[in-house]
Amino acid sequence: MTRIFSGVKPTGHLTLGNYLGAVRRWVEVEQHRAEALFSVVDLHALTVEHDPARVRRLSRQAATLLLAAGLDPRRCTLFVQSHVDEHARLSYLLECTAYDGELRRMIQYKEKGTLARAAGQSVRVSLLTYPVLMAADILAYGTDEVPVGEDQAQHVELTRDLAVRFNQRYGHTFTVPKVTRPAVAARVRDLQDPTSKMGKSHENGAGIVYLLDEPDVVRRKVLRAVTDSGREVAYDRDAQPGVANLLDVLAACTGGDPEVLAGGYASYGALKKDTAEAVVELLRPLRERHAELVADPGYVEGVLREGAERARAMARPVVDRAYRAIGLLPAA
Ligand code: TYM
Repeated sequence: MTRIFSGVKPTGHLTLGNYLGAVRRWVEVEQHRAEALFSVVDLHALTVEHDPARVRRLSRQAATLLLAAGLDPRRCTLFVQSHVDEHARLSYLLECTAYDGELRRMIQYKEKGTLARAAGQSVRVSLLTYPVLMAADILAYGTDEVPVGEDQAQHVELTRDLAVRFNQRYGHTFTVPKVTRPAVAARVRDLQDPTSKMGKSHENGAGIVYLLDEPDVVRRKVLRAVTDSGREVAYDRDAQPGVANLLDVLAACTGGDPEVLAGGYASYGALKKDTAEAVVELLRPLRERHAELVADPGYVEGVLREGAERARAMARPVVDRAYRAIGLLPAA
């Protein structure tokens, strides 16, 4: 059976981008067709300035939201990355496989590193090595497919390179995974800055729809989205990135095609109004279910405990094999 791994990083509240680009597909497709593991990858949240209490809170919230979105613990394995030691164990072996040049080339390292330096902050070594930990997340489970949004594709490419290199040097150990992306909304853009992605940790939240935003907040954010100087509603990502983004979101919410939808609108105002309502309706059941689950923390904890046990049992033999292959003496 195909094995799938994907994760979400608790550096901020989950966004509409996370949902449309990744989580919705995990819920609707992946958990039904494959042996799927989904993780709140909390170790990844330590690569930038962080507040320990906030990371803990966001990790619990992310797990709760994934369940609220419809991940079913009877169909998939949901767990917190730091509960399974194998990720960190394998990451070190992969650090001994990766080259610094290939990590310095990663777009996210360049972007976040530049931002941190510009803000006068030091850059943690883990920001550089982060894609190696991500490779460990994936390779520890013999993963075949990694469903992610567009921004993560480069990291999965690196994962493939590391798997191939390790296998060539030390004998076949890892499955070489492939990336899969959603047909629409692989990259939802910031409503205030439609040339950049809608990310969790943008300092100005006005262009970001969070999954737990109140309906009126969602409406306000969508209605205030930056549109382009033309007047005609057309689907043109280069000439009209703001309008194209709204059409992408509307299409993802309603199951339509952005180019076809564009033909149905004579004004930006009408497009914004329909998009706002479509997003509110999309998120309504998720918010309701989240509120129910928050009232039952024992349930969420139980799911995570069982998830970690299952994940450990899958990762352990793979990582032990890698330890032997690379030349480490087995403990007697
Ligand atoms: P993260 O937490 O930034 O995002 C989680 C998932 O959401 C997708 N995504 C988006 N898709 C479309 N439009 C957007 N604006 C948008 N923003 C985020 C991401 O592509 C991702 O699929 N490094 C990863 C987490 C990770 C991981 C892994 C993923 C760690 N280990 C192993 C897969 C496999 C990250 O930071 O995702």
